[in-house]
Amino acid sequence: MPSVKISASVLNSDLSALGNEVKRISDNGIEYVHFDVMDGEFVENITYGSAVQKSILPHTSAKIDTHLMVMHPGRQVKLFADAGSDIITFHIESECDADALIDEIHSYGVKAGVAVKPNTPAEAVFPYIEKADMVLVMTVEPGYGGQGFIHAMTDKIRKVREEADRLGKDIDIQVDGGINTETAKLVKDAGANVLVAGTFLFKSEDMKKSADSMR
Ligand code: DX5
Ligand code: ZN
Repeated sequence: MPSVKISASVLNSDLSALGNEVKRISDNGIEYVHFDVMDGEFVENITYGSAVQKSILPHTSAKIDTHLMVMHPGRQVKLFADAGSDIITFHIESECDADALIDEIHSYGVKAGVAVKPNTPAEAVFPYIEKADMVLVMTVEPGYGGQGFIHAMTDKIRKVREEADRLGKDIDIQVDGGINTETAKLVKDAGANVLVAGTFLFKSEDMKKSADSMR
């Protein structure tokens, strides 16, 4: 399994001071800023787009992990690649040709991730494990931060890790939603290694300590 990395979701941070919030992420030794993009169609909520992502780049040395929760990711990937994404993850349930989209993301020199919602089976991402750099197993229903971890998702993580091992691919498996010190242990045991956390990190007194407790 690849090394454990933390990706801090700014969704529930102080968005009126976003530059400062992303600076705290890298200052506390966290590897990624997790940037949740919602379009009001794939999910009901609307967040922020590529222009906002671009504006945070000078304020952080963390890598940018873009999570597209949009119905038409094909319209967004070039914009986000140009706005500094190190990895772009899109949902398999969106309207897209997943194979072609992975190729397009790679053509910009950006890593590609494929995400599944809680009700989508693990098998839906199996065809992309060899080609993608990361699989994101959602551990809450996408749309909002601060929700409770869905325990049944550990089985799905295990299935994806088993299939990756069978294929001999050392892929990153990311989890997103309701991750804290306790649930981090469960998902790591199941085979996840990239842990997204929003509420837990931003509500904690000591972000570095909290991140280290998840590792
Ligand atoms: C949910 C987002 C998550 C969310 C995680 O749709 O994709 O990234 O911000 O937040 P917490 O850690 O609060 O569950
Ligand atoms: Zn996310």
